[in-house]
Amino acid sequence: MDNQNFFLLLAFSLVPALVLGTRNHVYIVRVDNDLKPSVFPTFKLWYTSTVRSLSVPSTTALDPKPNPNPNRRGINSKRLLHVYGTVFHGFSASLTAPQAHALRTTPGVLSVIQDRPRQLHTTRTPQFLGLVSGPASQPNNLISSANAGAGVVVAVLDTGIDPGHRSFSVAGQPNPPSKWKGICQAGPSFPATSCNNKLVGARFFATGYQAGVTPKNGSSDILSPYDTNGHGTHTASTIAGGPIDGASFLGFATGVATGIAPQAHIAVYKICWSGGCFESDMLAAFDSAVADGADIISLSVGGGPTPYHLDSISIGAFSAFNFHGVLVSASSGNDGPGEMTATNIAPWITTVGASTIDRCFSADVTLRDGTVLSGASLYSGKDLSPDKWLPLVYAGNLSSLRLGFRSTAPFCMRGSLEPAATQGKVVLCERGVVPRVEKGLAVKEAGGVGMIISNEFLDGEGILPDAHLLPAVEIGYSAGKIVHEYIRTEASPSVRLSFHGTQIEVKPAPVVASFSGRGPSTQSAYIIKPDIVAPGVGILAAWTNSTSPTELSLDERRTEFNIMSGTSMACPHVSGIAALLKAAHPDWSPASIRSAIMTTAYVNDNLGRDLIDESSGNRSIEWAHGSGHADPEKAADPGLVYDLSTEDYTNFLCNSNYTELDIRTITRTAVNCSQKSGMPWDLNYPSISIMVNQPVATSAGNFEIVVNRTLTSVRDTHSTYTVSMKEPSGVHMVIVPDKLVFNRKGEKQQFVVKVSAHAAPLKAGASQTEFGYISWTDGVRRVRSPVGFTWHQSF
Ligand SMILES: *[C@@H]1O[C@H](CO)[C@@H](O)[C@H](O)[C@H]1NC(C)=O
Ligand SMILES: *[C@@H]1O[C@H](CO)[C@@H](O)[C@H](O)[C@H]1NC(C)=O
Ligand SMILES: *[C@@H]1O[C@H](CO)[C@@H](O)[C@H](O)[C@H]1NC(C)=O
Ligand SMILES: *[C@@H]1O[C@H](CO)[C@@H](O)[C@H](O)[C@H]1NC(C)=O
Ligand SMILES: *[C@@H]1O[C@H](CO)[C@@H](O)[C@H](O)[C@H]1NC(C)=O
Ligand SMILES: *[C@@H]1O[C@H](CO)[C@@H](O)[C@H](O)[C@H]1NC(C)=O
Ligand SMILES: *[C@@H]1O[C@H](CO)[C@@H](O)[C@H](O)[C@H]1NC(C)=O
Repeated sequence: MDNQNFFLLLAFSLVPALVLGTRNHVYIVRVDNDLKPSVFPTFKLWYTSTVRSLSVPSTTALDPKPNPNPNRRGINSKRLLHVYGTVFHGFSASLTAPQAHALRTTPGVLSVIQDRPRQLHTTRTPQFLGLVSGPASQPNNLISSANAGAGVVVAVLDTGIDPGHRSFSVAGQPNPPSKWKGICQAGPSFPATSCNNKLVGARFFATGYQAGVTPKNGSSDILSPYDTNGHGTHTASTIAGGPIDGASFLGFATGVATGIAPQAHIAVYKICWSGGCFESDMLAAFDSAVADGADIISLSVGGGPTPYHLDSISIGAFSAFNFHGVLVSASSGNDGPGEMTATNIAPWITTVGASTIDRCFSADVTLRDGTVLSGASLYSGKDLSPDKWLPLVYAGNLSSLRLGFRSTAPFCMRGSLEPAATQGKVVLCERGVVPRVEKGLAVKEAGGVGMIISNEFLDGEGILPDAHLLPAVEIGYSAGKIVHEYIRTEASPSVRLSFHGTQIEVKPAPVVASFSGRGPSTQSAYIIKPDIVAPGVGILAAWTNSTSPTELSLDERRTEFNIMSGTSMACPHVSGIAALLKAAHPDWSPASIRSAIMTTAYVNDNLGRDLIDESSGNRSIEWAHGSGHADPEKAADPGLVYDLSTEDYTNFLCNSNYTELDIRTITRTAVNCSQKSGMPWDLNYPSISIMVNQPVATSAGNFEIVVNRTLTSVRDTHSTYTVSMKEPSGVHMVIVPDKLVFNRKGEKQQFVVKVSAHAAPLKAGASQTEFGYISWTDGVRRVRSPVGFTWHQSF
């Protein structure tokens, strides 16, 4: 019966129509697979039918070959070039422009993009964040109301900066604010003239490093703020690089490269060296940055899970945030997707996780049996090889046994692959253990001609594109399984690799990146971390002249820009947004700026669905995305904020049972906790996390909890806010009052969330968390806070 319907549908769709334009191009078609009619047993059949249903050009004379089957007047099925089923749902096909146009309105089709390796479009993250750089006459535009961040100084604690890069040229850049006291610390490759109105300060901190580590001979360390690594140049330009037309990386992601706050000032504090970033140096950098008068500190450097009072980032950030009004934005680390992997989790740090944008650099693996698996690559050369199948081998079968490389060969560690067996082949490597670009080098050195990197289970479908030295495609876990199975079962497995350049308007986006560090926080279950997610996959930004884009010494390429992925790339986006908000609202505290970013964040992707987690393909949860994805234009007008004082944090630390001595390490002033009697969730944070401990004897019973919050109006008008909510599953919430009236800017109103829940049946030591939210609105603005409720069963 299904077959019959299918047949009817095909027949119905073969009505020819007059169309103009017969020149074919390759188009990449994104499809919403959820809309597949059940009559089609496979996606491929559905796609094929969709393409065949497109009308045929009226002038087929241009087609040199006669149509072999006059009854099949639809498009030759051969024109369905690829079927994508992992990161990308859809297909590519050779179509005329009118056919592509017709496809755009076909049900189930999300986007139709012409496959052009070097197409013109912008570098995209400002647009993806909704930042429009329009004329100043548009009052509701954050870039113009913030004057693009002019007058705000962002301290970048990183690997230094390449001051000669065009992104840091001074054209049109106003003077730094008069309070600015920074210096330009000269040194090798960094003359005192390196600083200007864009790069207003530069220092380096190597004392701790030099004391702790003897740099390796031949290390690239230069004792000056000069960036020999590239990371610091990349993050600084993401925050505040000036606009550069025609930027690209080897032809990928062509467009205008610009920082999020292109008129903000940068002050560089070099804390990272070839042997690492040392806490003592970091703390010194925090000190200097605050003393110099920085407004924002951006830190794409992580620490391990350390109690707040033993973590110099946390300590440095506390003073910056509380005593000096400096917002500290830091990356949540790249150790996801496991739980409790987030770093930089102190409640006074804005913790930033990473998500994708609507751009990808797609590449395909075609197995000889016809299977096409889509992946990603920044390899800039030709396809491998369009007219010949190449032998495919699994790296685990190539180990130089005599050298004992059995365990490292699957990961393609350099020297682990036997050249005699690798020569002339495409090698399947596992992701992990060694840097991805180094795997390519290992394969190349052993004589391999191409490489496929397959995700491991925990990486899920999250794919990170790299500028490999040989033709290489990275594929997700499920595609990897298919390749493994193909190699195992085929007598002579063979393959082709093809590269498709840059695609934009990719859906769904954003998607939470697999690698992004996740909560719950190792230091406090009462604070949801990360706070926010922002673009951190495939980000184009400035690069240093002193190293290659892969950072491999054997790679002789030098590029003005580079495409990188990591929470290191996400953090500077939020630092840039904070700079814009600070410029637009100089009177806002760092807690207010963070609150504005968090309460206006969104939790839906560009298909209107809940954010997806790349690692599972399932709905993302708050331990992964926090309050959601940053939305700077909304954050500029949050209506209400959850502000915080130093005393609030002191109470939080007391209520979390930190000792007075430990608290003093953080706050630097004596505290007396004996009169504090609240709970840690009373901290006036823009999100809420409650945890209850169930004594082992009572898996029955009820929990009744009252959570206090105070909202502050940031608008000078009368406004009435009403509340809505979604209760975490199994939890009852009542919000009192359910209406708040504000008459002026700065006015505060308190409310309580009365939470009740039954005990949950859990094994000893186990926990369970459910999430909901509360949301205040005046009809225009929305002030949303996720609410987490965790049951924990004692041993
Ligand atoms: C980068 O290096 C090249 C040659 O090594 C040089 O010509 C160019 O000026 C350098 N660019 C910058 C921005 O320093
Ligand atoms: C490093 O280089 C110095 C001088 O070139 C040499 O004396 C020293 O032995 C080298 N150290 C190592 C560990 O190779
Ligand atoms: C290749 O490796 C797999 C997994 O380790 C093994 O099952 C298979 O037998 C090996 N194939 C050859 C030809 O050695
Ligand atoms: C994703 O969701 C499916 C269906 O609900 C479930 O079976 C699977 O375990 C989930 N995967 C992960 C990694 O949570
Ligand atoms: C702090 O210690 C007190 C007394 O032992 C205990 O009742 C309370 O639950 C603890 N608070 C936290 C957040 O662990
Ligand atoms: C803290 O305050 C309590 C009550 O006011 C007082 O008894 C106690 O001595 C104080 N502790 C310290 C260390 O000052
Ligand atoms: C919470 O708010 C209620 C009512 O506004 C107040 O009575 C109570 O003291 C507050 N609790 C804390 C710990 O601030």
